[in-house]
Amino acid sequence: ALIPVILSGGAGTRLWPVSRRAHPKPFMRLASGQTLAETTVERASRVASQGVTLTVTGRDYYFLTRDLYQQGAPETEHHFLLEPEGRNTAPAIAAAALWVESRFGEDACLLVQPADHLVRNVAAFEQAVTKAHALASEGWLTCLGIQPTHPETGFGYIRAGSAIEDRGLSIEAFVEKPDLETARRYVESGQYLWNAGMFCLRARTLLDAMAEHAPDILAGVRETWQASSTDQEPLELDSVRFARVRADSIDFAIMEKARKRAVVPVDCGWSDIGSWQAISELYETDALGNRVQGEGVLVDSRNTFVQGEKRLVAAVGVDNLVIVDTGDAVLVASRERAQEVKAVVDELTRQD
Ligand code: GDD
Ligand code: MG
Repeated sequence: ALIPVILSGGAGTRLWPVSRRAHPKPFMRLASGQTLAETTVERASRVASQGVTLTVTGRDYYFLTRDLYQQGAPETEHHFLLEPEGRNTAPAIAAAALWVESRFGEDACLLVQPADHLVRNVAAFEQAVTKAHALASEGWLTCLGIQPTHPETGFGYIRAGSAIEDRGLSIEAFVEKPDLETARRYVESGQYLWNAGMFCLRARTLLDAMAEHAPDILAGVRETWQASSTDQEPLELDSVRFARVRADSIDFAIMEKARKRAVVPVDCGWSDIGSWQAISELYETDALGNRVQGEGVLVDSRNTFVQGEKRLVAAVGVDNLVIVDTGDAVLVASRERAQEVKAVVDELTRQD
């Protein structure tokens, strides 16, 4: 059995002002008019062997997410595990593994996917998932790997080893979020892949790996599970117990340390659309490197991205800018520093 597990946590603060606490990244609409949540659930449903998906998310996002799923994949049965507060991905995935184990047995596999990534070639994605599922069924902790294009420090880097038949490669080293120097070295060496943040894991293998490498997290999540009403729908995790679980990511807690790890390289037009820089790359440029989404006019400008949602945005003689207008907020940032928009959100949170 293969159960897609969709993780929907953070607010995506690097995409302010479009992504906010009340309107996080999965609810962002693409040029097609669909939200990321819909495209993710649609893609997940194609590989859901039991016609079932599981989403782990915060209470506040339940109703909206469920409604979007009705539109994205109406034929599939969607289940929800609700967190009182986020404890990062390791506890979220551990809870999902307990859910999958309780419904489908310990040999069932989870296909973990972020709710807010873009995959342009779904056929290539499906082929990779078939390979990853075969590996996961044999007890490999498997992730999907992407050919890196630049020294991004927000990703995990994977050094692949020998081939496992024609399904993937064993992982020799997994380094989560290296510093810039290290990331440069990795990309130049040509020996590393990016971790796409999509994992295929057998429930039992994951729980065993957690027992070995993060026993405190597993114990906390088991305790939470026992204190929760686990047959209700949606399933709300016990807030007192879950709040005590140590927050850590699956990457640091498990993938950097575990033994039997594999990667399936995939070229599926993947983007985590984690910054305005990444968003702007989704659109065609004109001859001067400009991209305009919605209402915008650029005169004598270069390498500038404009997104105007509610009114016309015009700029004259500017270079390398990102300009985003949502009607109630305007962002103007230098293109190279688009990642630092996060700091705006931190500042606004401090003023709250
Ligand atoms: N339900 C839930 N609860 N979801 C969460 C939580 C949580 O507490 N924390 C994060 N998530 C979700 C996020 O919404 C996102 O969809 C996914 O889990 C990954 O979390 P991020 O916070 O976005 O991780 P990251 O971008 O720093 O790094 C991960 O993704 C990279 C690729 O985009 C790592 O897996 C890296 O190794 C990887 O390269
Ligand atoms: Mg991310």
